Amino acid sequence: MTAHIIDGKTIAADLRGKVTDAVHRLLRDRGLVPGIAVVLVGENPASEVYVRTKSKMVAAAGMHAIDRKLPATTSEAELLALVGELNADPAVNGILVQLPLPPQIDSHKIIAAIDPAKDVDGFHPLNVGRLASGLPALVPCTPLGCVMLAKTAHVSLAGLDAVVIGRSNIVGKPVAQLLLAENATVTVAHSKTRDLLGLCRRADLLIAAIGRPEMVRADWIKPGATVIDVGINRVAGQEGQQAGKSRIVGDVAYAEVAAVAGALTPVPGGVGPMTIACLLLNTLRAACAQNGLPAPSI
Ligand code: GUN
Repeated sequence: MTAHIIDGKTIAADLRGKVTDAVHRLLRDRGLVPGIAVVLVGENPASEVYVRTKSKMVAAAGMHAIDRKLPATTSEAELLALVGELNADPAVNGILVQLPLPPQIDSHKIIAAIDPAKDVDGFHPLNVGRLASGLPALVPCTPLGCVMLAKTAHVSLAGLDAVVIGRSNIVGKPVAQLLLAENATVTVAHSKTRDLLGLCRRADLLIAAIGRPEMVRADWIKPGATVIDVGINRVAGQEGQQAGKSRIVGDVAYAEVAAVAGALTPVPGGVGPMTIACLLLNTLRAACAQNGLPAPSI
């Protein structure tokens, strides 16, 4: 079997196009421009690349991007003060504080200080609880993107055996909640899971969010399964490539898994582009809700 490659780049571009159309309608009919504040503390190069890409895509979707860059020495009180300022600003519909934060700042305190209505990351305890309770919520972007991609490979996710490897608050736990809401039978595996291989081999849908390059191998995969690779790992280039060059690989050994799986997301070009597209969708949804307008039908 050769897996169908789920083209996250194209699916994300399509979603961004729909959000952009809805943003243009919002401006035409209501005079509103959704705004998102992206806060970056310190100088993590990977975070800087994400934040630059996010701001570009926000502007391309017709939204207003407010970038706030703070030094690595910023105190918790200073960041809390900025969050308070953004909460109070009516031009800001969404607030994203890029993680990780420097060690002197408690990220839980910062997340809890964000107005839940502006929490476009879906990390605030109120949104986490609403998602777990099956209530409408702002939901985390990467998990939302994973489920959208999985749905392109299945008429329905109901009844599927889904295995999530990884239990982070950013991906593992929320993607498990979203899959439960789709009526999948969900198991969350992690570093202490006993028979990880046996568990994965029974999965109709496997979500790999481990953070270890190419850990998921072909013999972990049930023939025909759908595999969603959340990993973004920078590794040294292979022989034959230019010395000193690095490349990005996922948590899944792509070439060998593609020979067994039914459908597979590539890295790059799979989940990554969906995260930003879902951030735009969440910002649009937040702007509509804050202005008493119905949720856009996307
Ligand atoms: N760092 C890595 N992924 C994310 C994300 O989805 N949101 C935020 N705020 N920080 C991140």
